[in-house]
This record gives sequence, structure tokens and C-alpha cells, in this order.
Amino acid sequence: MQAVQAPIIPIVGRWTRETPGTISLGQGLVSYGPPQESLDALRRFGGDPDDHRYGPVEGQPELISAIEEKLSRENGVEVRPHGRVVVTAGGNMAFLNAALAVADPGDEFVFPVPFYFNHEMAVVMAGCRPVPVPTAAGYQLDVDAIADAITARTRAVVTISPNNPSGAVYPEDALRAVNALCAERGVYHIHDEVYEYFTYDGATHFSPASIGGALPHTITLSSLSKAYGFAGWRIGYMVIPDALFDAVNKIQDTNLICPPRASQAAALAALRVGRSYCAPMVAGLARVRHVVLDTLGGLDDLCEVPPVRGAFYCLARVRTRVPVMTLVERLIREHRVAVIPGNAFGLEGPVVRVSYGALDAASVTEGIGRLVEGLRRLAL
Ligand SMILES: Cc1ncc(COP(=O)(O)O)c(C=O)c1O
Repeated sequence: MQAVQAPIIPIVGRWTRETPGTISLGQGLVSYGPPQESLDALRRFGGDPDDHRYGPVEGQPELISAIEEKLSRENGVEVRPHGRVVVTAGGNMAFLNAALAVADPGDEFVFPVPFYFNHEMAVVMAGCRPVPVPTAAGYQLDVDAIADAITARTRAVVTISPNNPSGAVYPEDALRAVNALCAERGVYHIHDEVYEYFTYDGATHFSPASIGGALPHTITLSSLSKAYGFAGWRIGYMVIPDALFDAVNKIQDTNLICPPRASQAAALAALRVGRSYCAPMVAGLARVRHVVLDTLGGLDDLCEVPPVRGAFYCLARVRTRVPVMTLVERLIREHRVAVIPGNAFGLEGPVVRVSYGALDAASVTEGIGRLVEGLRRLAL
């Protein structure tokens, strides 16, 4: 465990709590909670004695059917007969299940940088080696760099789109190229799409598992945490090749036995409401996003912010000599605005992630104002 990086959110959270009045552009949350239908389902939950017993390791059949149906309708992914849906206690658990299922200690996972820190931490915990690879302009995938990084020990290439922390949305052709490369080199393509609904400016989401013949080497991870304001309810899911089901079943049976039944009931109700629930929230976020990108994008003297079209994040490379952890701590303590240091995501130098999902437009505007003021003081 000493080899695993310390989770950054609690550190930034502590500095934030120690500095009352800080506006957090830190944690990756949305501002809204679950649909009313989920809360109603929870009120009805518990009347049947079976509600209190263990359920199937992979989740309740009705929830699995609803997920399969959603994947077919929205993502073009036909799970059966070559794949299986496994409901997990969130997307993080889905990734850990995947890592443990496909790799032996010493195996390698290829991560285009920036990566999501909990993915990298899971790989280290599994006794495996994260292999970071550079990305191209705008944090887009560099397929040649990924190809060069694959060795005999590689078990998977991990992509996230829309991306945390960069906000980049990978185009269909790039995801197709990575997926084909994985097939050719005999490794899995693990694709995280928890931000699939959060795209702007005409960007479209693409699921690699929808590619003909991709299911046997593709693992898709998703979650209700962001789309349905479900973060504390802990419901995510994975689509795995049939051949991995026994392995994932062992892992999840040991770790979780079954996803929490009450949360599954709430999740089923949320999926029945569907995408229309979060569409207006995403439209609202699009306006907040303009404030963020327009303001930070116009500060060439202070920082560089590539335009991105997804999630609710962007990365700012600050023109400063201050080490990134000091930069983040001083932004909090001296300017009362919290951001996340990019080193947690494998980025070198003074890069910070700005998250605008959890705040209303006025708070984001105030927070960005403080950030600009702080950068003016701390930049070169
Ligand atoms: C890319 C990505 N995957 C997975 C997760 C984990 O989400 P969950 O709450 O479903 O575990 C997050 C959360 O921030 C994320 O950014």
C-alpha cells in the first residue's frame, strides 16, 4: 500500500475545511440529486422479506435487463450473447473488478495521460504496473504511442471518454483504432464512460463495445453517480466478455457479495426515468462551462487551457515555478479557491484540474474570479 499514491481529494478537502469560505472547484460532483422516482422506490423498498436478503452477485435481474436495454437503445451495444452486465457498488469497484480479473501481479496496464487516479491506484494495488503514455494536442489519444507501449506483459489499454480530468471527448475513429489495436495485440480495451451524457458543442459519445466483434476483448465501465446524482448511492456497472464472468463473480462475491439491494431499487427507478432526467442539467452546465472556458481561455499570460468538449472539467497549465502542491495549497489558503493538482492524474508540472459540475453559475463565476486573482499572484 505504500506504493499507492495517497488519494488527493481528502488532502485538498482538509485544506478546504481549514479555510472557511473556500469555493471548491475541486471534487468531481454534480449539483443535483437523484430523481424523485428513485426516492419513491426507496420508500416502497423493504416490504418484501426478500428485499433484506443477499441477492445475485451480479445484481438484480430487473436492473440488469434495464441496463442491457439502455445499452442497446442508446449505445448500440448488444450485450448478449457474448457479454454480461455486472452491477457494482460504483464505477471504481467496476474498474478494480476488471483489473483483478484480467491481470496477474507484474502485468501492465497502458494509461494515456492524464488518467483517473483511482484507476492507477487500483492497478498498483493489484500488484501490476501502470504504464503512462503521452497524449496529443488537446489531450487526445495518440494511438501510435499506445501501440509502442504495449509489451508481452500488457493486459489492457485504459481509456476514459469524456475524460476525467481533461474533459476531452475522444472521437469515434480514435476509439475504433484503439479497440482494433487491442484486438490485434491480444489485450483488453477497458473503456470508462461514466460521463457519457456530459458532452457539449456537438461532441458525440461513442461506445467501443458497439463495434462489431469487440465484446470479447472490451470491458465497459459506467456509473449512475454523475448522470443521476447518485454518488452516495454507490451504483455502477460493467459490461464484460462472457469469458470473464467467472473471474468477476469470484472477485465481487468476496468483496461485496451483492450490490446494496436498496440502492439497486433506486437505480432501477432512475434508469426508467432515463436520460431526460439529466439533459436539462447538462444544458445548464453548458452555460457554466462557457464562463469557465471563456475566462481561463483568455489568460494566455497566466495559463494554457485547451478547449475541451466533455465532462465538467478542464486542465489549466499554469505559467509558474511554484510546485503544484504548493500552488494548490496557496490557492486555497490565500485565495479561497480549491482545485486539484494534475500530478494525481499523471501530469507533470504546474497543471491543475478545474471542476465546475457542482456549483451554480454565480458560485463558479466567483470561484473562477478568485482563481484568476490567485494565478496572477502565483504565476511567473
Ligand atoms: C472517470 C471516472 N470513473 C469512475 C469514477 C467513479 O465513480 P463512482 O462514483 O461510480 O465510483 C469517477 C468519479 O469521479 C470518474 O471520474
